[in-house]
Amino acid sequence: MTQRDLNYLLIALSLLSGLYVTVTGAVTDLFGLHQFAFHRYAGYLCAVFVLLHLVLQRDRVTAYLRGRLGRPRRQEVSAPPRDEGVRRGRRAFLAAALTGIGGFLLGRWLPLRRAVELPAEPADLGALYHQWSKPGYSGLSGVLTDWGSMPLPRKTYPAAPKVPLPDPRRARGLSLEEAVEVRRSVRHYADVPLTLEELSRLLHAAQGITEPRFGFRAAPSAGALYPIELYVVVHRVAGLEMGIYHYAPHEHQLERVQSGDFRARIVAVGIGQDFLGTAGVCLVLTAVFQRTRWRYRERTYRYVLLEAGHIGQNIYLAATSMGMGACAVGAFLDDAVNELLGVDGEQEAALYILSVGKRA
Ligand SMILES: Cc1cc2nc3c(=O)[nH]c(=O)nc-3n(C[C@H](O)[C@H](O)[C@H](O)COP(=O)(O)O)c2cc1C
Repeated sequence: MTQRDLNYLLIALSLLSGLYVTVTGAVTDLFGLHQFAFHRYAGYLCAVFVLLHLVLQRDRVTAYLRGRLGRPRRQEVSAPPRDEGVRRGRRAFLAAALTGIGGFLLGRWLPLRRAVELPAEPADLGALYHQWSKPGYSGLSGVLTDWGSMPLPRKTYPAAPKVPLPDPRRARGLSLEEAVEVRRSVRHYADVPLTLEELSRLLHAAQGITEPRFGFRAAPSAGALYPIELYVVVHRVAGLEMGIYHYAPHEHQLERVQSGDFRARIVAVGIGQDFLGTAGVCLVLTAVFQRTRWRYRERTYRYVLLEAGHIGQNIYLAATSMGMGACAVGAFLDDAVNELLGVDGEQEAALYILSVGKRA
């Protein structure tokens, strides 16, 4: 291989690795990755090829720079005269060969999205969704779909009466290890109200702002987009009117959406699960899907459910740590719960209910 061949090879490799940097950069952006090894290595590789190329071309580079800086040009290193036709033929051959090799490598190694097949055995829509929402490089074509724009990052009820909550960080309870060890789903509650401090701490553990500079919260959220809204159906909290409240994490306050006794309604929408009416409060988690959808497209439904799980566990552990009991509820009449909260069930829908109360 002559030095000339090597030059062309390096140019081709630089271009190919540059292309790979671009593709992996797009993937990094598409999935909101904070670290993506392929992108990093592609960048290093590209830098090495470009550097090698510059080293081999140092005479030309120096001559060019000298010319640009106005110094007298050194005698050009003259290439031996060649037949132009032979040179073009060689270049064309090299370009074709490299394109072929590049195409083969990309086609062989890029994990293309598989065609979605219905599982042979009885499966539900969730199984199909799971297959369909797997990432692949060809999923980049999903970028062409209109997934809508970024909506408002949080919900507020400007006209609702506000209830400021006490500082949640003062209270102390069981350690994390103890809380994990003794946590159980508790469905029998004493007829004793929660204090406002206890409610404050529950809500802070669920969705409280723990890093005010960036608005980061107690539970993780894909892309820090926070699609989950939190409603509190208050049955028994000392000093708090019965009713349905919305939690505003940034102000750490409650917004009263409706006043009234909702014990019978929550049991009815909870398919007759009595403990929803005997708890001190029922926390209802909803998702505003578009907050995640504009960014994560078909991964949205996975992410909002996972986030609800994170929040649910924080609520369980906070309740346990304070000596109270909690129970997760996934079995409920969706439309009835959405109606109770006054959400439309499409843009925003209920995902999860957690009852919390003093242990009987
Ligand atoms: C997603 C999910 C949905 C649940 N739904 C209900 C429910 O509708 N009613 C109920 O009584 N318990 C429900 N539970 C609580 C489980 O029954 C409970 O976690 C399980 O029995 C294990 O007991 P433990 O939580 O005490 O460890 C649910 C739990 C999860 C994680």
